[in-house]
Amino acid sequence: MADNWLSTLLTDTPQEGYDLAVLMVRTAVKMTQADPAVRGELRAVYGKDADALIAVSTVVAAHFQTVAAANNYWRV
Ligand code: HEM
Repeated sequence: MADNWLSTLLTDTPQEGYDLAVLMVRTAVKMTQADPAVRGELRAVYGKDADALIAVSTVVAAHFQTVAAANNYWRV
């Protein structure tokens, strides 16, 4: 994990903000389960579980709210 992986919440576009939200979530997963082999095993499980995939979208949405607020909803 790079030391400075989250230097800013500011993004140029909402789409980049969404990508950042996904990065934030995936980083939390990596911090929580550091073993890539275990993550690989679990990927095979959650990737085929509709409820898990819905949960994924919910967690990303929560982070996206934070990113969007930090960017003042990209209003100019
Ligand atoms: C792949 C998102 C939870 C392990 C991916 C990919 C995305 C993603 C977008 C595709 C990457 C690509 O193909 O370029 C998320 C989100 C999660 C989540 C948003 C939670 C809300 C987890 C969990 C695990 C996991 C809980 C296992 C502990 C993996 C692995 C891959 C993967 C091993 C494939 C290898 C890689 O691309 O790094 N995930 N994931 N993910 N995820 Fe997740």
